[in-house]
Amino acid sequence: MASLSFLATTTSSSSPLHRRHPRKVVPSTTPRRFHTSCEQVANTTDASGGDDKGSSILRMDRRNVLLSGLGGGLYGAAGLGLLGVGEPLAAIGAPITIPDLTKCHKATADGIGKVECCPPYQDISGAIDFTFPSSSKALRVRKPAHLLSDEEVAKYKEAYRLMKALPETDPRSFMQQANVHCQYCNGAYYQTGTEDKVLQVHYNWFFLPWHRLYLHFHERILGSLIGDDSFALPFWNWDSGLEGMKIPSFFTKDTSSPVYDEKRNLNHYPPAIIDFDYSYGDSNPTDVDDVIHKNLLKISNAFSETLTKPELFMGAVLRAGGEINSPGTLETIHNMAHMWVGPDESPNMDMGNFYSAGRDPIFYCHHSNVDRMWSIYKNLRGKSTEFDDSDWLDSTFVFVDEKGQLVRCKVSQTQSTQKLRYTYDTDVELPWIDKGVRKKVLKAKKKSADLALVPVTEFGSTSKSLTTIIRVLVSRPKKSRTKSEKEEAVEVLVVSGIQVPANGSSRFDVYVSKPYGDDMAGPDLGELAGYFHHVPHHVKDKEVESKNHEADLKLGITKLLEDIDAEATEKVVVSLVPRFGDITVGGVTIQHLNTDTSSA
Ligand code: C2O
Repeated sequence: MASLSFLATTTSSSSPLHRRHPRKVVPSTTPRRFHTSCEQVANTTDASGGDDKGSSILRMDRRNVLLSGLGGGLYGAAGLGLLGVGEPLAAIGAPITIPDLTKCHKATADGIGKVECCPPYQDISGAIDFTFPSSSKALRVRKPAHLLSDEEVAKYKEAYRLMKALPETDPRSFMQQANVHCQYCNGAYYQTGTEDKVLQVHYNWFFLPWHRLYLHFHERILGSLIGDDSFALPFWNWDSGLEGMKIPSFFTKDTSSPVYDEKRNLNHYPPAIIDFDYSYGDSNPTDVDDVIHKNLLKISNAFSETLTKPELFMGAVLRAGGEINSPGTLETIHNMAHMWVGPDESPNMDMGNFYSAGRDPIFYCHHSNVDRMWSIYKNLRGKSTEFDDSDWLDSTFVFVDEKGQLVRCKVSQTQSTQKLRYTYDTDVELPWIDKGVRKKVLKAKKKSADLALVPVTEFGSTSKSLTTIIRVLVSRPKKSRTKSEKEEAVEVLVVSGIQVPANGSSRFDVYVSKPYGDDMAGPDLGELAGYFHHVPHHVKDKEVESKNHEADLKLGITKLLEDIDAEATEKVVVSLVPRFGDITVGGVTIQHLNTDTSSA
């Protein structure tokens, strides 16, 4: 058994959607320390990448993963925001249906305003139900972009050249392909039967299945244009080391190539490597090893705190008629790549803005890796369905295939890449699954902090405006939890009563540290538990919404507390660090949430 060590709990991210440069209030001394604890975990040589159905990729039974392998560390909730901006959905129940395409209207692009991105088709009466490609078809094998052969790169570029050469009215053309993203991400449709509930496939449990289908058809179209049934999208292997974390060179080297896009941040061209801590305006970190290790930890944590609670990884439950804004841990990491690739200037364009993200071919390569991460997650969970819930599985979307045919697809048809006739190259290392990563980070981060202690008190009952860093002492419901208690419930840090302007962007980061004595905090903020990020809501054409939205942020900290050796402490220090936007916070508590045993 190889090691599969899920390390710390820090996961940070941001969305590409805001267009303002953040006010940088994080002190330069912001701690980036990682602590030990989490130990061993199960062993497996290889968690995957490959097809998530019926293969031996995951040589570990899910039960083993859950019950033994991951030790006490597993039961944390997401390190990332479940932020309940929007309506509670408890009372609503039905799958999402295909929107009325004839009612497509202008979308709302962040920082830009109304944009036109409706498809060239409105009539879906000729749509057919999706059936899986024949199993006699060649399996498309998606490979790491930075390892493609020259021949593969040439084919890939040729496919995009041809796609870009199609008339813009052709739904298979590059511009129309990009517009599909705009339609579902920027509010070009309302949910069927409503006149104000936007159909949104981000920040909720449709994020992964919808993008899987989107890429599937995109890949089929590209393949058919070059007459190659086995054509596969490469994946930007940003979860590997140095080479994978750079923008793959075929995107950057040749400015006349069909996969070049001018609207990118040139500072982030190789040799720069992606920084999952990035915020607009940041300069490139100089300590490359440090960035690599921290990136790997973030990826690792996105999995480790969510395996027993899929909505924390996949995105929040959303049923017909609901609206929600709660990305999963994977989506938030993914957002960072959008922001990092896109240009810094406001309004952010192409990768940095959802309405235009699909205009950069790197989008599909990035999402190929996002999709691969889902395959790995599924494998780690023994291939079980994340949500055994018909409101998810029966939700339906419509896409255009390589023949220009409209096809209705259900979420239930996204559960196996094998059935969709593609897989991921499994001969790819997963350095983030190796516990060595954590040790390296610890080593790199070991430095003696000067111990200037500051007194901290409880939050109290009055709301506070987050104009500067707020540090408070928070009681835990129970200290020294046993392993079985952790199997039953995840420990969740709840920042409640968050108020942000509905029509603006806002973000704050949340750190957790162990107190010194009863009521003193050390000089550094501790571990990043996650962040809150609000993206402006789509508003109806005339209306300009300015009222505040109220939200709660829930961050899994089970594992984080072990990592900082705080399991036996009664209280922890929580620091709220504003990044941008006007934010008011109502309270900070720690609670227990039952794990998702139904799908466990
Ligand atoms: Cu639809 Cu990368 O987002």
